[in-house]
Amino acid sequence: METLKGLKRTHYCGELREKNINEEVVLMGWVQKKRNLGGLVFVDLRDTSGLCQIVFDTDVDKEAFEKAEKLGAEFVIAVKGKVCERQSKNPNMPTGDIEIFATELRLLNKSETPPIYIKDDDDVSEALRLKYRYLDLRKPSMQRNLKLRHKVMNITRNYLSNNRFCEIETPFLIAPTPEGARDYLVPSRVNPGKFYALPQSPQLYKQLLMVSGMDRYFQIVKCFRDEDLRADRQPEFTQIDCEMSFVEQEDVMSMIEGLLEAIFKEVLDVELALPLPKMTYAEAMSKYGSDKPDTRFGYELTDISDVVCNCGFKVFADATQPGKSVRGINVKGKADDFTRKQISSLEEHAKTYRAKGLAWMKVGQEGVTSPIAKFFNEEEMNAILTRMNAEVGDLLLFVADKNSIVFDALGQVRLEVANRLNLLDKNVYNLLWVTEFPVFEEDEETGTFSAMHHPFTSPMDEDLDKLEEGDKSSLRAKAYDIVLNGYEIGGGSVRISNSDVQSRMFKALGFTEERANEKFGYLLEAFKYGTPPHAGLAFGLDRLVMLLAGTDNIREVIAFPKNQNAVCPMTNAPTLAEDEQLEELSIKVDIKDNENM
Ligand code: AMO
Ligand code: AMP
Repeated sequence: METLKGLKRTHYCGELREKNINEEVVLMGWVQKKRNLGGLVFVDLRDTSGLCQIVFDTDVDKEAFEKAEKLGAEFVIAVKGKVCERQSKNPNMPTGDIEIFATELRLLNKSETPPIYIKDDDDVSEALRLKYRYLDLRKPSMQRNLKLRHKVMNITRNYLSNNRFCEIETPFLIAPTPEGARDYLVPSRVNPGKFYALPQSPQLYKQLLMVSGMDRYFQIVKCFRDEDLRADRQPEFTQIDCEMSFVEQEDVMSMIEGLLEAIFKEVLDVELALPLPKMTYAEAMSKYGSDKPDTRFGYELTDISDVVCNCGFKVFADATQPGKSVRGINVKGKADDFTRKQISSLEEHAKTYRAKGLAWMKVGQEGVTSPIAKFFNEEEMNAILTRMNAEVGDLLLFVADKNSIVFDALGQVRLEVANRLNLLDKNVYNLLWVTEFPVFEEDEETGTFSAMHHPFTSPMDEDLDKLEEGDKSSLRAKAYDIVLNGYEIGGGSVRISNSDVQSRMFKALGFTEERANEKFGYLLEAFKYGTPPHAGLAFGLDRLVMLLAGTDNIREVIAFPKNQNAVCPMTNAPTLAEDEQLEELSIKVDIKDNENM
């Protein structure tokens, strides 16, 4: 093997063009591909900027040619040579007009045959990609994603710094901060039996920084949540976390819109129309069945409860009690696009979201085709069609159940229909604010209430007096989410900045005074010493970058992500701890046979 020995790279492979012809260059990188044509060896050399064709000609430099004959895929080399006009130009390659005639070749390292191909369209399992992530990251698409992520972070740092925000680090070894997920715990050796929690977010620290008078804070920060994983969730993920003093909801929104404007302009060259649209939580749920509506297409939900309350179809009539409803969507003009079999598979989809069924009607020239048509008299059928704004050629889909199930299942059917009809255009970016979230969320099984955003979120002024009232579900918060194409990419709120109101909130959430003091006494105490009104927001950076990169898998924009079981297939983390380590931490592990082995 050879070394660099003073050899300096002059250019990156992917950046050479016709204007470089006749220059002598030194390139360094990996062998993407080698072709041996007798007296000529062609090598596609790859570095982080792209590919460039190198020609080793036995007549130009015999030694380099002979070395080149022995190269294999992913060998690491340095090449000195002259840029020449390419004989057979390749318009599909940015460097396709030129090639390098090599005069020197240094073999810097060999490579075994890699277990995955280094090319974007390689159809290999994600498990293998994650096991060999360092090879997977050699692919152009992965490098592009990581650079895009870096760019978003850079734009963010510049924008917020220019707007007087100060980046401040907050601790990772903390007392638990509630954001609704389970904590990752870290045992303390010097305090046996005690644990730190890793932050689910820096929420309380950023509020305390406002008490400190830091005025505007931000941090690009890792957060840790032990929750069930999905394609858009990771156990450790990154937030762009912000907080501002002496502001109201609109001030945070316009600051954040400015940041999004800068990101979309610089990353995608897309001009956002500001201000972004706003929609209340109530409207989002009733129109889209979701608090993160995808507004790239219609098919809005319509409530037909009042027109079917006395009908002969028991499933519908029974679902018109309070708290329940019958709602439908009109898939306009697409009756012929869905066969019975396809509707059955939509029904299966609805059932995975707890619906008991998916009723359907096709509106044709000769009337309505539907397995449930027989249950309605003419008047009722006409009332349904009128309410649904139905015309010949339409497909109507209905779910009847508890409201929460109707919204969830029909909202998901709506998305699935749009997906099947190819309406989810990745080049369209529909951003909106969802506002006026409920303060409390009810657990359907236990009937207990928890904070929908977090317990530090201020109720709306007009609802504040209702904190102690019976019907908690009607209270609205000064909380807002930013939604992009059906994904919640960020969320925030105006905070409670008064210790009395904060105590009342804890009480409303079922905390005794002692428990509230035990867990959050330091915050209540801090609020006594002159707390400015403050508000903020946190973006999920990974989700934002995922959508900017045009993918729906968050792992594609994270260098070393965990798989669906929260495992890193490359390092095998999490692993069993050594007995000695456990002893030092005063920890005994009690797992059943074979569990975790
Ligand atoms: P919230 O819990 O809404 O708010 O989180 C903010 C944003 O973080 C992203 N996010 C995630 N991304 C990937 N994987 C996860 N497991 C995950 N969980 C959340 C989402 C979400 O919108 N402290 C508050 C913010 C505030 O009030 O200022 C908070 O953490 O995109
Ligand atoms: P059944 O009478 O159970 O055969 O149902 C007749 C039709 O109504 C089928 O197409 C079912 O999918 C549909 N259906 C059953 N339960 C519901 C429900 N809760 N909401 C909407 N449609 C339903």
